[in-house]
Amino acid sequence: MTTQEMNLAFEQAYGKKAEKMYFSPGRVNLIGEHTDYNGGCVFPCALSFGAWLLLAKNNDQVLRFRSLNMPQTYSIPVADIKPQPDRAWCNYALGCIDIIRRRHPEAKLESGYDLLYYGNVPAGAGLSSSAAMEVVTARAFTEEMNWKDADDKKYRTELALIGQACEHEYAGVMCGVMDQFASAQGKKDHAIHLNCDTLEFEHVPVKLEGIKVVISNTHSPHHLDSGAYNDRVRQCKTAVEQISTVKPIKHLAELTPEDWKEVEGVITDPIAKKRAHHVVGEVARTAEAVEALKKGDIKRFGELMTQSHVSLRDDYEVTGKELDTMAEAAWEVEGVLGSRMTGGGFGGCTVSLVKDEAIETFKAHVGKVYEEKTGLKPDFYVAEIGDGVSRLA
Ligand code: GLA
Repeated sequence: MTTQEMNLAFEQAYGKKAEKMYFSPGRVNLIGEHTDYNGGCVFPCALSFGAWLLLAKNNDQVLRFRSLNMPQTYSIPVADIKPQPDRAWCNYALGCIDIIRRRHPEAKLESGYDLLYYGNVPAGAGLSSSAAMEVVTARAFTEEMNWKDADDKKYRTELALIGQACEHEYAGVMCGVMDQFASAQGKKDHAIHLNCDTLEFEHVPVKLEGIKVVISNTHSPHHLDSGAYNDRVRQCKTAVEQISTVKPIKHLAELTPEDWKEVEGVITDPIAKKRAHHVVGEVARTAEAVEALKKGDIKRFGELMTQSHVSLRDDYEVTGKELDTMAEAAWEVEGVLGSRMTGGGFGGCTVSLVKDEAIETFKAHVGKVYEEKTGLKPDFYVAEIGDGVSRLA
């Protein structure tokens, strides 16, 4: 859909022209999975897929929510902003408006708004359609409510934190900050090496001569709010508590693989122990992978991606049949440097590094094996790494 078509759809929906338009991207994470809420590093890129928001003020003191993707519409009085029942999609936007006010009491919502959303992140693919929607809303409403940090870098970090708080409070997912951060701070042709404890980050160029980042959609929807995600967050907390009896730590990411050997014995809960083992290994793999990419050692980067998948499969147990089938089929293709699940897991997508000349074989082989074993038809996208949130008009 073009932005012109979105403008037309706005006019049809509300009988007037949109005043402003914003865009915020989804993301793909190259490595560093389930490390963000453990104080570790992540390495995501913003995509060219994302969420658009068109808006105009109204005189009715209501927030009207429409989406070109969802049939439900909502009309919420400005004076009565609170979480809506039945997993209403407007919660991802409403929560951001609420949280802007709470984090910045000087920010005032002084009128009602007519809003239209459109997203082209494949639904349920684990490519952060919800973070895109949160960050685009946070961007638009910080502007409408007259709150802005003059420092653009700090402003974007704050947009990510608003989005994350919305996810916690309005969607009930106790996520880390990775998705919203990538959506806010993305940079064309770069990945973001983010320390999720300090929120310091650097943009690292993704220069892959003759290699593409390929995203494979299992079309087995990931259900991040299914409780399994929050279970992982709790299990890691248990591990931190038990380890802290012998070595006080705030986060699992503080442990090196050497430290692990010394402390693993005190974790009595076998599940918590497996989870923590993944996190400690993944933190080390992520650091090594970023260095490998900077040196142009894509082969090593790919090997670490594959090791990451194995650890997410065996220790973190967030892959499942579809993601495992997809990754394992990819590993069989000559010209694949590495392949792993990306995002929260439990369905969604894999991310693979594939040599240009192997892309057609990759799609044919992985597609065939995947369909035979799961009965589902996958989709493949060559990732275009884009910029973070922006105002378009
Ligand atoms: C989801 C969450 C992120 C992160 C990933 C796993 O995408 O929203 O915060 O925890 O899962 O790395």
